[in-house]
Formats: sequence, C-alpha cells, structure tokens
Amino acid sequence: MEHADIVILGAGAAGLFCAGSALGQGKSIIVIDHAKAPGEKIRISGGGRCNFTNMATAYDRFLSENPRFCASALARFSPGDFVTLIDRAGIAWHEKTLGQLFCDDSARQVVDMLLTRMRGAELWLQTTVDEVCPDPDGFRITTSRGILLARRVVVATGGRSIPKMGATGLGYDIARQFGLSLIEQRAGLVPLTFAEQELQLCRPLAGLSVEAEVSTGSGKNRRSFSDGFLFTHRGLSGPAILQISSYWKPGEQITVDLAPGIDAGARLRAARGEHGRQTVARAISAWLPSRLADSIIADCGLTEARLADQNNAVLDRVAARINSWTVRPVGSEGWRTAEVTLGGVDTRELDARAMQARKVPGLYFIGEVVDVTGWLGGYNFQWAWASAHAAGLAL
Ligand code: FDA
Repeated sequence: MEHADIVILGAGAAGLFCAGSALGQGKSIIVIDHAKAPGEKIRISGGGRCNFTNMATAYDRFLSENPRFCASALARFSPGDFVTLIDRAGIAWHEKTLGQLFCDDSARQVVDMLLTRMRGAELWLQTTVDEVCPDPDGFRITTSRGILLARRVVVATGGRSIPKMGATGLGYDIARQFGLSLIEQRAGLVPLTFAEQELQLCRPLAGLSVEAEVSTGSGKNRRSFSDGFLFTHRGLSGPAILQISSYWKPGEQITVDLAPGIDAGARLRAARGEHGRQTVARAISAWLPSRLADSIIADCGLTEARLADQNNAVLDRVAARINSWTVRPVGSEGWRTAEVTLGGVDTRELDARAMQARKVPGLYFIGEVVDVTGWLGGYNFQWAWASAHAAGLAL
C-alpha cells in the first residue's frame, strides 16, 4: 500500500497546474490519470495552439448557479500571472482577438511547461481509479496500480465533453458519494442542430461563414454574441453559435443578425431608388456572400425578383430575414463535440478560497468538474489555472 500527502485525480489543465502550485515543504504528490498522456485537451485546444487565457477575464464571463463564486480564485491568479509563467518558459505567444492569447507555435509547449513546473510530483498515467473512500487518516483510493492512502484528494477529472478523449463522470460520482449536491450537467460551447426545414437551408451553405450577431432569451436574460457564424451539414456552428449555445435552453429560439451594423431595410430601399432593375439577390450580395443572398431570396420566394417591383412591405420582410432571422434549434451536437460541460459540483458545497468541500475536509474540486463554465476564448483554461492555484496553495 502506498501513501501520499496529496493525490490529484486527473492530469488535465487543472490537475497539472495544481500539482505545480502545491509543491514544496516536502509534500508527496501523486497525479493519477487513466489516459496515456497528460493534458490531452490542452494539446488539441485552440486548433493546436492553445488559447491559454483571456486578458478580459472577469467573473461575469462565466456561467454558474452561483455567479460570483469564481471571482475570488480569478482575482488571486490572473491572466497576467499565467502569462508570466509562459514568458518564463520562453513560449512565444500572440493576442488573436478579444483578449484571446495563443501560442505562436504549439499547445504542446504549454503541456511541457506544466510538466516542468510540477517536477517533484509523481505522475501515474494509464491508471484507473475505481473508488475513493474515507479513511481514518484521510482517503483510501483503489486504483489499477493498487491501493493508495492520501491525506488530501483533489478531484480534477474535468467534465463530460468528448468521451473519446477520456472524459468520464468520475468527479461527479465522487461528489455524490460524499453527499455533495450537483448542478445538472449539459453540453456547452457546442454546435446547434436543426429540424429538416432549417437543414434544407443550412446544407447547401455548409462551409460558408459570415460575421453575425446571435441572441437568445429576453429582458435581463437576453444574451448576444457577435462573432464568426458557420453553416454546417448538421445546422449552425462557429464562435457566435458556440457562445450562445451555453445560454440557449431547449425549446427557445435564437435570433441571428446576418449583417450586424447594416440596416438591410434602408439599404434595399436606397438600392431600389438607384438600381431598380437589379434583382433583390444582387443588391443583397453587395454586403453578404452571394450564395447566402441567393438562399435568403429563395427562402423569401423572390428568386429573380427585381427591386423596382417590390413594395416596402416586401423589402421589410427580406430585411427582417437578414437582420433578425429567428430559428429554433432542436438540440445540440452534445458531448461528442462540446468544448465544455455546464453544471457540475454545486459551488455552494465548496469554500471559494481553497475549493475544499465544506462537509468533507481534505476533499477538493477544481477545474471543469465544478459548476463554473467560461465563455469561448481562453476563459475555461484561466478558470482551470486559477481554481487549481487556489487549491494548490491551500493543500
Ligand atoms: P481536463 O478535461 O483538461 O482534464 C481532466 C483529466 O481527467 C483528463 O486528463 C482525463 O483523462 C482525466 N480523467 C477523467 N476521468 C478519469 C477517470 N475516471 N480516471 C482517471 N482519470 C480521469 N479552453 C480554453 O480556455 N481555451 C481553448 O483553446 C480551449 N479549446 C478547447 C478545444 C476542445 C476541442 C475542447 C474539448 C475543449 C477546449 N477548451 C478550451 C476547454 C478546456 O479544454 C477545458 O475547460 C479544460 O481542459 C478543463 O480542465 P480540467 O483539468 O478541469 O479538465
């Protein structure tokens, strides 16, 4: 039987970072993962370049039943703190857009930096965790390598997204087993899917992307995101759709402005005055890709129709189809492609400073397994680093 002061379950972003933060004072640390390699999601993130943080990080860019819970950890480990580590490791980076920082070369550099930082801790890969039980001296962990006794256990097993990459519900099972409540989990940052009627519009446009503003909800619950918008064979995707997917509730519709900043009605009336013989589709293609313009016009039953023959009501109908297209998704692509998991361990069960379970001293939850989910754009890694650091310093 082996003993360790600290056992961290999960060698992903949060687990690796926590091990590095907890090192020191002769503490023995073992990080366990069933995967062949550590940090697999980091490796594939950001198209292989890892969007490792976002300079605009603030608590209101995270979804949680308890929205201010994440503020304390985020304030104590900032994007600038992570950039300092990246700079120290000599990793070249750039800001892409909206505060999103990416490696110039490869996400692997971030994994290597995390592994170097946690040198001194043991890493047990390809090790399954069967059970975590309370023990008079802490916790008893049954693994495929045998039984391990630990004074403290950190659960950093991530969410449910992309099971093919090793995601499991272990963290939620452990929380439940120790009597902690959970917020229902659902897929976030995920493409939305549609019924046949909308698919007939999306399929021929698959691969086409535009800048769009996508909104959902109403009143103070209304959310809008302006970003890339992509038609696919299964429905809609692109950053604006991924962002809105985290806020969208089944049954709700979304509104899409396919030409943000352009008053399509005013433009069409002006075009009618100046080039009445032009087709409506041609006029629209001055500011939208012509494939999309043709599709919108066909949807409005105006193929080949000339501007001069359309009254204001018809042009307003076309304009509404461009500036406020409402569609009702039937669902999302689910765990198979979701970048993150919404919901998880109820933050009311955790102490915001140390991420320790209030009812179970010595048991900590960090990263995506917790009910804190960021927007697209580096926020989720920043939460992984910040929550891991908070726990690491307290261990
Ligand atoms: P993470 O999933 O990283 O790690 C959990 C670890 O636990 C894994 O190594 C897993 O193998 C292990 N594990 C799970 N169950 C286990 C079990 N039963 N036994 C043993 N081990 C187990 N975010 C961002 O900020 N910028 C970005 O660019 C991207 N890009 C991106 C792309 C794609 C394709 C995805 C899927 C996700 C992103 N993300 C992202 C989100 C980001 O990857 C995610 O939020 C963090 O990896 C979460 O870190 P965790 O350490 O909590 O979980």
